[in-house]
Amino acid sequence: MAGEKAREPRGDYYRQDQRIPETPAPGEQPAPWGETQVVGRARPRVDAYERVSGSARYPSDLVLPGMLYGAILRCPHPHARVRKCDTDAAVALPGVHAVISDATAEARLRWPYGPDSSSRLFDPHCRFEGECVAAVAAESPHQARDALAAIAVDYQVLDHVSDERRALDAGAAAVHSGGNRVEPTAVHERGDVAAGFAAADVVLEQSYRCACELHTPLELHGCVARWDGDRLTLWESSQGVFAIQQRVAEVLGLPLSRVRVINHYMGGGFGSKLQAGKYTLIAALLARRSARPVKLFLSRAETYLAAGNRPPTSMRLKAGVTADGRLTALEFRCTGASGAYPAGGAALVDWQIRDLYTCPNVRTEADDVYIHAGPARPFRAPGHPQGSWALEQMLDALAREIDMDPVALRLANVPDKSQAREGQPPYSSTGLARCLRDGAEAFGWQQARERSAEQKRSGDKRRGVGMAACLWVAGSGGPPSTVVLKLFADGSVNLNMGASDIGTGTKTVMALVVAEELGVRSDLIQIEHADTGSTQYATPSGGSKTVPTEAPAVRAAAVAVKRELLRMGAAQLGVAVDQLTLRDGRLAAAGDGPSAAVAELDELSRRGVVVGVGHRGPNPEGLAVCPFGAQFCEVEVDVRTGEVRLLRLTAAQESGRVMDRLTFDSQVVGGVTMGIGFGLTEERVLDGPTGKLCNRNWHDYKLPTALDVPARVQSLPIDLPDPRANTTGAKGLGEPVTIPTAAAIANAIFDATGVRPTESPVMPPRLLALLAAARREG
Ligand code: MOS
Repeated sequence: MAGEKAREPRGDYYRQDQRIPETPAPGEQPAPWGETQVVGRARPRVDAYERVSGSARYPSDLVLPGMLYGAILRCPHPHARVRKCDTDAAVALPGVHAVISDATAEARLRWPYGPDSSSRLFDPHCRFEGECVAAVAAESPHQARDALAAIAVDYQVLDHVSDERRALDAGAAAVHSGGNRVEPTAVHERGDVAAGFAAADVVLEQSYRCACELHTPLELHGCVARWDGDRLTLWESSQGVFAIQQRVAEVLGLPLSRVRVINHYMGGGFGSKLQAGKYTLIAALLARRSARPVKLFLSRAETYLAAGNRPPTSMRLKAGVTADGRLTALEFRCTGASGAYPAGGAALVDWQIRDLYTCPNVRTEADDVYIHAGPARPFRAPGHPQGSWALEQMLDALAREIDMDPVALRLANVPDKSQAREGQPPYSSTGLARCLRDGAEAFGWQQARERSAEQKRSGDKRRGVGMAACLWVAGSGGPPSTVVLKLFADGSVNLNMGASDIGTGTKTVMALVVAEELGVRSDLIQIEHADTGSTQYATPSGGSKTVPTEAPAVRAAAVAVKRELLRMGAAQLGVAVDQLTLRDGRLAAAGDGPSAAVAELDELSRRGVVVGVGHRGPNPEGLAVCPFGAQFCEVEVDVRTGEVRLLRLTAAQESGRVMDRLTFDSQVVGGVTMGIGFGLTEERVLDGPTGKLCNRNWHDYKLPTALDVPARVQSLPIDLPDPRANTTGAKGLGEPVTIPTAAAIANAIFDATGVRPTESPVMPPRLLALLAAARREG
């Protein structure tokens, strides 16, 4: 497996290309939690009022005095050369303060699309529809749009390739001079696949394809940029302010200390806001040129063109199983499209195949190709839902062939170690079997299967049930993280951390951690976060690692504060430190001994504040830390219209300790909702002849709405605190939830109709075609 280690397990894509500082000293870590009092209950968000009242200010809400509005002129062709770009008329328009293009000084800056790939900021060779050609800043958004319209561009339109299945064909238009392969085929191999198939009683082989899914955060991508002399401040809608700071400083050649990035609220990122965009830099450049603050947010259409996607993926899977349900071999090929620049087009697609079930003989091949379309970005559990779409449908088909319950087939192959990682380390904990068993019971799997088997295959509305399981490659968290906690003389607390709360409830969970250790009410805890100028370094909130990364550091900081309080209390009350406990803001000696409220500590009122610093300790050596899940659902298919109605779904998720039941449930419902979109409704449509994006708004690009998400989405937490993972026992949750949903739905569709929807999303016309073909054959 030479060369394997460097690119494996790739679960840390959320910090790719970044310089990550070391944690100064992991320091003494408290012992893992046992039972908790506050953590694990259902507590509302600490910022619920701000969010629902509209007083929470997101970057897109920000208005600064003298602020201008930026806008970007984008190439309307998937592949073209700019012969001439005439900005004279735009410059002369009223209200226009800055126009930049490949003809202005800013042109010399290069935008790094990847470690070995970059383009000019306004590259005259445009490789995707939506690439930046010029930009303006004006007094109003309308004047900015008028200025864009006044720029005359002469394009030479070139041949394009927009289908990943055609990208490597002889004669396909070349995206880059070296051809359309992003990198050599990535191969994973263990055991002997041929021998494994020979040992199987049943071997099946099937092709699958997943359409490209577009990033649709509610808040659009963009920022407000302001210069104070040679110091730049950016309010950017992002998942990690330090990542934005690093990229912008690097491209502008500024010291990191002169780039301040702030983001106290953000309206969703899902992986598309782990990094800065050209738009970030363009806002900064327009602000510098005009000496005014500039607000630059993309439109929805621009977001769809240029702010990332889950790549389209073509797959083929061959699988062997014995009659008693042991997997003997898996062989998998996939091709995914990065888009016009390297973006991990096939990254992690094979991870479910490699690691979810015990299988001694596995071979996977992954090809990442260029096409003339906007580059991909990480997208909630990158690669995993695609791999799950193939693997979990294959498991369903195998179970039917050997006449075994699909839950039983999965239970027969539950792994206790990560087979795809170097050295095959055991999992620190795994709740996969619990997810399968408890999920099946909560859903009523047996009864539902029997009902569905009895149902006659007649009538227009057919019901069926399906299930799928998953693991997520990452979700352990890890260093670095440094957290500073200040406890004031009145007992209130200020928590300082660099991480962003990307809408998942990070701040709420951290407040609960402080409350657990210090007994402080959460309304007395103020959180300062996500500001490179005033908070501690943190990696971006991605990879479902924010809670397992930050919570142990917060806990360590709280424990440091608590140690100080106990020392002060012991001195004041004249008892030994180990006789004292801190509960509900009071230090009390054992039995009927003396006690004092924290606010009554003399030393605290003299000093005014106690400061505790906490660091995230290292992860356990030789263990893989991963979350698991299993989902069960029931659908009703109208075989006359091809409509699929999801009636109910149970999501059993094991992510270590449940930190807050409400944020847990909201992650589960959110992840399932995105899975429904992936499986049933969302698809980027590129026009064949022109290669242009056909569906660039919320009318034509079909997001699941409230009508598509059943009221009966049951969140079933498998609460298994993992003391080996970290001192809070929590693992990541946000991404694993979205992995198996679509495959579970596909299996339920098969159960209902007898046709297997191998292509996602299962839109009515696609399903009708399958049903018609089945009728012709049957
Ligand atoms: Mo996630 S795709 O790491 O935001």
